[in-house]
Amino acid sequence: MISTNASIARVPTAILISGRGSNMLALAKAAQSPDYPAEIKLVISNNPEAEGLQKAADMGITVIPLDHTAFKSRLSFDRELHKHLKANQIQMICCAGYMRILSSWFVGQWPGRIINIHPSLLPKYKGLNTHQRALEAGDKEHGCTVHYVNEELDGGDIILQSKFNILPNDTKETLEKRVLEREHALYVKALEKILRNIECS
Ligand code: GAR
Repeated sequence: MISTNASIARVPTAILISGRGSNMLALAKAAQSPDYPAEIKLVISNNPEAEGLQKAADMGITVIPLDHTAFKSRLSFDRELHKHLKANQIQMICCAGYMRILSSWFVGQWPGRIINIHPSLLPKYKGLNTHQRALEAGDKEHGCTVHYVNEELDGGDIILQSKFNILPNDTKETLEKRVLEREHALYVKALEKILRNIECS
């Protein structure tokens, strides 16, 4: 009998994190299903203290703490990062709470192969403090975005968004919580969507 996943090519994927790693965990759990088109092979953090590293290791994923403070420049760090990704035959990179800007050189090495999740409805509120900025602007809606990474901060093409209405008693803390709940499902869906159309080299 042919197993249902026999024809599914699973794309070797790395996740970059800097902290808690809840989005990383959501992707790693989804990828435990043989029908999910990504195989999470590697989790790298620029912060060796990131909580997410242990969570990934507990799931049997190879983890690499790569302390960016030990490098002379952004480029030298990114070259090392690139080396680890290549050594592990990675084809797709997901930034998940990765709080470090990638160099143009790095982005150029991975065209169409780096995606990110951002806690706002891009193009609104690139950068930090997105929940506070949405409240201060008096926005009626808020949400999150999965997008391709290009050389412009939070500026690449949008893959998927999830939005909800801001309630009168929302604070930046409640917005953060409501966004995060949606992020996990959105990231799993967005990665699946693009990998169904990707060709591995
Ligand atoms: C998430 O809300 C993610 O959107 C945000 O950091 C959080 C990470 O949580 N990312 C950014 O702000 C990137 N600019 P997690 O570590 O639990 O996934």
